[in-house]
Amino acid sequence: MTHAAYPALRLRRTRAAAWSRAMVAENRLSPADLIWPLFVTGGRDNREPIASMPGVERLSVDLLAAAAKEAAALGIPCLALFPNTPASARSDDGREALNPDNLMCRAIAAIKAAVPEIGVLTDVALDPYTSHGHDGVLDAEARILNDESVEILVGQSLNQARAGADIIAPSDMMDGRVGAIRAALEGENFTNVQIMSYAAKYASAFYGPFRDAVGSGGYLKGDKKTYQMDYANSGEALREVALDLAEGADSVMVKPGLPYLDIVRRVKDSFNVPVFAYQVSGEYAMIEAAVAANVLDRDKAMIETLTAFKRAGCSGVLTYFARDAARLLG
Ligand code: PBG
Repeated sequence: MTHAAYPALRLRRTRAAAWSRAMVAENRLSPADLIWPLFVTGGRDNREPIASMPGVERLSVDLLAAAAKEAAALGIPCLALFPNTPASARSDDGREALNPDNLMCRAIAAIKAAVPEIGVLTDVALDPYTSHGHDGVLDAEARILNDESVEILVGQSLNQARAGADIIAPSDMMDGRVGAIRAALEGENFTNVQIMSYAAKYASAFYGPFRDAVGSGGYLKGDKKTYQMDYANSGEALREVALDLAEGADSVMVKPGLPYLDIVRRVKDSFNVPVFAYQVSGEYAMIEAAVAANVLDRDKAMIETLTAFKRAGCSGVLTYFARDAARLLG
């Protein structure tokens, strides 16, 4: 009996056994691929749950050392910090961002003192510090002022670098901020402080829970469409990336994550630089909601989504699943 009708090449052969699948796997997720975002709040021994992000807590500064030690022990190379500034310190111009004793600076110092070998990435944008929830400062008509905002963002970056930040991550999407920050860092001899620019950051519905976490959601008037990108566009993302690299970014980020893997791939193929993606708060909340409804297996969904980022070309992922994923991978 002839089998001419059957396929000559059977791709199922290499899938047939676990050892074989492991041998031909093109991408492998490891804890070194994960950056763990932490929310920082006031008080002592203070953990505050975030209703829209089940399982994620804001931590007071004294609790950060333990979290950093745990992360380092799991092989997570870097933490990303986000402060929940007290309402009394928020203002029109977000000047608390320049305070050398603000939550962010105290958090950086506490982590670097306890675990000097872990990387600390700090977000640069004014939204956790402004009374209107925007990432920059406004004029009388509530338009976001570009160059005036950049000036404050430069001060914020230097403030973070002086406190010990390893990676400055501007997430504000003002034009020209990467070049201005790079020049200022060089001017103060922070030659080894990296810039990871949120280069292709979209105006997205998926940031909702984050705005609860840093407490800016209640303040935000309007939307961020005049500075964050339109999700209809991808060619524009390449222009943003090209500019940020020319201005001195060491690596670039695409954000949100999973709905934007096409952008990650285009950026990686076009520039061949380290590309990171942010699996943002809404993506996390969506998976947690499906898990709570017994619709998804949490561990499997977590590892599959994170591996998808690697496949798309990411060097790493900022993810609220970092600790749990690293535990599973360990
Ligand atoms: C601040 C900032 C935001 C996020 C990271 N940095 C929110 C925003 O731009 O409104 C979102 C992260 C997340 O949703 O997990 N500019």
